[in-house]
Amino acid sequence: MTLLFAFPEQAALGEALVKTSGFEQGAWEWRHFPDGKSYVRILSKVKLKPVIILCSLNRPDEKTLPLTFLVHTLKELGAGKITLIAPYLGYMRQDKRFNDGEAVTSTIFAKLLSGFIDALITIDPHLHRHAKLEEIYACECRVLSAAPLMAQWIAKHVQNPFIIGPDKESEQWVKDVTRRANAPYVILDKTRRGDREVDIRLPDVQHYKKHTPVLIDDIISTAATMIKAIELLRLQEFKQIVCLATHGVFAENAYERLLKMGNVKIVTANTIPHASNAMDVASLLAAGK
Ligand code: R5P
Repeated sequence: MTLLFAFPEQAALGEALVKTSGFEQGAWEWRHFPDGKSYVRILSKVKLKPVIILCSLNRPDEKTLPLTFLVHTLKELGAGKITLIAPYLGYMRQDKRFNDGEAVTSTIFAKLLSGFIDALITIDPHLHRHAKLEEIYACECRVLSAAPLMAQWIAKHVQNPFIIGPDKESEQWVKDVTRRANAPYVILDKTRRGDREVDIRLPDVQHYKKHTPVLIDDIISTAATMIKAIELLRLQEFKQIVCLATHGVFAENAYERLLKMGNVKIVTANTIPHASNAMDVASLLAAGK
């Protein structure tokens, strides 16, 4: 039977997967020594058993080292195939050397993880300049899509939606959702000026005056993208606006800044636990394992 080891942040999702997928709950301990170093101990018998590790790679700098210790120890103890389910896969956005001397972290991180895991399952990874994960990950890869969950949420909660993708990259998710939700869509033109600053051009959307705008993106990080798009929609007198994203990373006070805009419904999937979670990826992961 496959053993599932969940990182603490993902305990609830891990329990849901154990219930629905017939995995056995793996027991392990991760704590910190007084000097901040990680202590990892595996408590379950793992010899010859396939293993799934559930760990979203938001805040990847603090999770990657314990993940490395966990996987290496599982291997030393004779575990079988090791699959990492990372509902959110970090380090996908720096997929190019934009300025001289920069580390292309998407590729380096992929090489690091592929060096010790056998397979990777993730949801809506930020594939932009890399067309598929296999271009950078040397292990078996499986990409799942939250589009069906988004389309279901929209069908249930939004009357007369019109879908907005804030940038060219979002078109891949937006097209899929609009096809399923049977709604019209527009893609905006975004230029990133810095970590927390974007410029966006909104085309003429007067035609959709009687619709409810639903902004769809893979990630909300600083929320600069969503905030700029909302400001432009407000200038066109759209009042109630919906922001839908697979991964609510919410860096710094991003969520509070979005809430402050008023009349904005913010909805994310539970790839990263957050108050805005309203789309459950458990069944998606259970079906895609
Ligand atoms: C961009 O390339 C992504 O699809 C998202 O639009 C971006 O990650 C959102 O970042 P932020 O919330 O910082 O604008």
